[in-house]
Amino acid sequence: MLKRKIFVTREIPDSGLKLLKQKGYEVKISLFNRAIKKRELIKELKKGYDGLLCLLTDKIDIKVLEAGMPRLKVIANYAVGFDNVDVKSANMKKILVCNTPADVVNESVAEHVIALMFALAKRVVESDNFTRDGRYKGWQPDLFIGQNLMNKTLGIIGLGRIGKATARRAVGMDMKVVYADLNQNKSFEQQYKAKYCSQNELLKVSDFVSLNVPLLASTRHLISTSQLKKMKKTAFLINTSRGSVVDELALLKALIKGDIAGAGLDVFECEPLIDCNPRDHYELRKMNNVIMTPHTASATIEAREAMSIVAANNIIAGLSGRRPVNLIKLK
Ligand code: GLV
Ligand code: GLV
Repeated sequence: MLKRKIFVTREIPDSGLKLLKQKGYEVKISLFNRAIKKRELIKELKKGYDGLLCLLTDKIDIKVLEAGMPRLKVIANYAVGFDNVDVKSANMKKILVCNTPADVVNESVAEHVIALMFALAKRVVESDNFTRDGRYKGWQPDLFIGQNLMNKTLGIIGLGRIGKATARRAVGMDMKVVYADLNQNKSFEQQYKAKYCSQNELLKVSDFVSLNVPLLASTRHLISTSQLKKMKKTAFLINTSRGSVVDELALLKALIKGDIAGAGLDVFECEPLIDCNPRDHYELRKMNNVIMTPHTASATIEAREAMSIVAANNIIAGLSGRRPVNLIKLK
């Protein structure tokens, strides 16, 4: 039989690549030490590959899919999110598409949500800058007053695996949990004393709102001006999903007007740009009440190794005629 060939669009942890090689596959890793460009990817895929291991920075559209035809059978996206892949067109061409929602990855993202919540509530970044700058001249009763998380309400929009992992932690910190989702989950409610509510109700009662939905046509700008206006003025918005789930310009305006207290952002609408249209001093980047991380919610040793293994196993399953565990099914 022809040796199976896999193309990997950028260097990733070796754990999964080893599995592919053990299986006897020929593994080619892109030699560019950066995100591959679309024309480079197309050129490479035309050489003929059975599997593609790609990143969330690779836009896998119809042109890329066609370049992989007729040999390409499985695409393993090295991410939980999959909005960078045209799954519908891939499926029409009988190409399987998979993601990497391993437990340890979901837990890493949940830990990141909690890290951003703590950083906002306890004003960690502002205080660090202040202290580092030599501005700390003596203890003051009113220096960097923050908030407790205890007894506060966390609203989770999207009760998938990441949403649940976040809820479990919040409950452990004596927070209350409310959630909005297409589906009600009674056993989750019982286990965590969580309350199911509409998104509008959630926005009204929450002190922290965490977005844990995938980016789909139905979740694009899920949070815009009218939703931000419903939030408490003391509340914080946390986004570790995809930038476009939030209308970022609306968020910036809400932050400037004080409609909400602050935001913790790991993802951005025009990333790697932080502001799509930088406008003078009104930029997310310049707001003290915004904490930002460069799309690193799953950037732990454990999570990234697991992602490599999961992506590899998805390719192996798909090429062995089995159904990959993390096959993406569009509803
Ligand atoms: C990261 O954003 C991921 O989707 O895994
Ligand atoms: C992630 O896999 C999620 O379901 O939220």
